[in-house]
Amino acid sequence: MRVLVTGGAGYIGSHLVDALIKRGDEVLVIDNLSTGRIENVRHLLGHPAFHFINDSILNEPLLERFIPSMDLVFHLAAAVGVRNILHDPLAAINTNVRGTEVVLGLAFKYWKRLVLASSSEIYGKASHVPFREDDDRVLGSTGVARWSYSMSKAIDEHFAFAYAAKGLPISIVRYFNSYGPRLDERGYGSVVANFIRQALRGDPITVHGDGKQTRCFTYIEDTVAGTLLAGEAKEAVGEVFNIGSTSETSILGLAETIKRLARSKSPVRFDPYEAYYGEGFEDTRRRVPSADKAKRRLGFTPRVDLEAGLKKTIVWCREHFAR
Ligand SMILES: NC(=O)c1ccc[n+]([C@@H]2O[C@H](COP(=O)([O-])OP(=O)(O)OC[C@H]3O[C@@H](n4cnc5c(N)ncnc54)[C@H](O)[C@@H]3O)[C@@H](O)[C@H]2O)c1
Repeated sequence: MRVLVTGGAGYIGSHLVDALIKRGDEVLVIDNLSTGRIENVRHLLGHPAFHFINDSILNEPLLERFIPSMDLVFHLAAAVGVRNILHDPLAAINTNVRGTEVVLGLAFKYWKRLVLASSSEIYGKASHVPFREDDDRVLGSTGVARWSYSMSKAIDEHFAFAYAAKGLPISIVRYFNSYGPRLDERGYGSVVANFIRQALRGDPITVHGDGKQTRCFTYIEDTVAGTLLAGEAKEAVGEVFNIGSTSETSILGLAETIKRLARSKSPVRFDPYEAYYGEGFEDTRRRVPSADKAKRRLGFTPRVDLEAGLKKTIVWCREHFAR
């Protein structure tokens, strides 16, 4: 198959590309390297089945040159990470809404199967867990910039459902806190990357708030497996799936586990959210996916437990993070 991966030089995208190349597909990546890195795909440069274009998904004429010859599109390019969104909400909204409008519009025009990367942020601060795909969304005020990411992904999903209603074979995956090798050292979107960097340097591991907020950390192999299934299974067409582990971990528990596995002497420090995100920041207390639908329709079950995944991630970070 010929497959386009937007955002394919990013953390998840590059692992997806590796899996596609491994199964014998020809892959084109379009990525503007805004948060992605060429190092993530450097090992593939020169591979006859790998093609890379350093450009934006907002460049519609460029995308229109390539999408007609594709069999499948994975749309992962996006402005990612709460800090990025807060730093430049306008650029983030533009990439996540306008960019997706371009990619999905062309997939519709040339009738291409597409998988859209969405997020557990969709559920906002809903307090009823586990989150089922058809649950209500609970969001804060538009005066709180962090919700623009959730909103932009929700608009993307609405676009996707609207095209699906017209018959386009399109599926949506909502990722829950993916982690693994190639996490960005700057940690802009990942508490795992931040904690590992701090632990390896012996800096304080900075837990925001009381640390009792929970997340379900999902190892990259599982994230990619769920994504591939969403692009293959007949039952995936026109549907949205939670792709995540159901094992709930508190942020304090994560800090302590990383400290132990990295054999770090870092103290764990509690910092107020305001120190990082300014006044009025709102966080989600618990975020747990319901795994039923992905299991039933895709046959997807996450396999890697947190300790095993963290061990592999820490090994990679030791080699690649600056010390
Ligand atoms: N990592 C997670 O846990 C997680 C959770 C929920 C959703 N997601 C979604 O998964 C996708 C991949 O995220 P990731 O964690 O790999 O982050 P990432 O930042 O590593 O990947 C995003 C990629 O998109 C590229 N990009 C951004 N704007 C672009 C543009 N205008 N044109 C072309 N490329 C552009 C970036 O350079 C980067 O390579 C995103 O859509 C994100 O919203 C990720």
